[in-house]
Amino acid sequence: MNRLALGILGSGKGSNCRAILERIRDGSLAAEARVVVSDVLDAPILDIAREFSVPNAYLNPGHFKTRLEPNTEAELVRMLQDCGVTLVALAGFMRVLKAPMLEAYPGRILNIHPSLLPKFPGLMAWKQALDAGEKVTGCTVHHVDQQIDHGDILAQREVPILPNDTAESLHERIQVQERILYPEVIGRFCPQP
Ligand code: GRF
Repeated sequence: MNRLALGILGSGKGSNCRAILERIRDGSLAAEARVVVSDVLDAPILDIAREFSVPNAYLNPGHFKTRLEPNTEAELVRMLQDCGVTLVALAGFMRVLKAPMLEAYPGRILNIHPSLLPKFPGLMAWKQALDAGEKVTGCTVHHVDQQIDHGDILAQREVPILPNDTAESLHERIQVQERILYPEVIGRFCPQP
């Protein structure tokens, strides 16, 4: 059966990655995770990849804090292409991608962000929404472009902000919705039966 060749990039705990790999395993996503790459050596997302027997790699990010060095980003492109990846899903990847990736995968890099974009791009978006006194926030899956948390929006799910919410409780409920939304949107890129 023809399957979408997926690459997943993440820097952290990997709960979205797990949700995607579970949907692949239970057959509801016609994709194959070709590789999981992290810029953090001991990131739990790499353990999740191993748990699901998905090839995985640590990419030494070099000196920059918020992006990869150009050579390193070119190496990432090679790594993904060598694995035959045709769609890249950022799942908590904490670096901004630049020309090497954007040119190698035009329109084929997705990101999930914990707010209803265009509101609250950037870090701790759930806390930004809470601090702003919003009644509703949520999560967004979007195409990745040159700007941070910016490209075309593919789908969103709303999450109400409750009177007693803390940043943690709100973030947790947003993440529950993320784990539904992201596999659903990736499904749109899969070959249809
Ligand atoms: C998610 O909340 C996502 O919206 C943001 O980074 C977080 C990653 O969480 N981009 P996880 O590593 O998938 O648990």
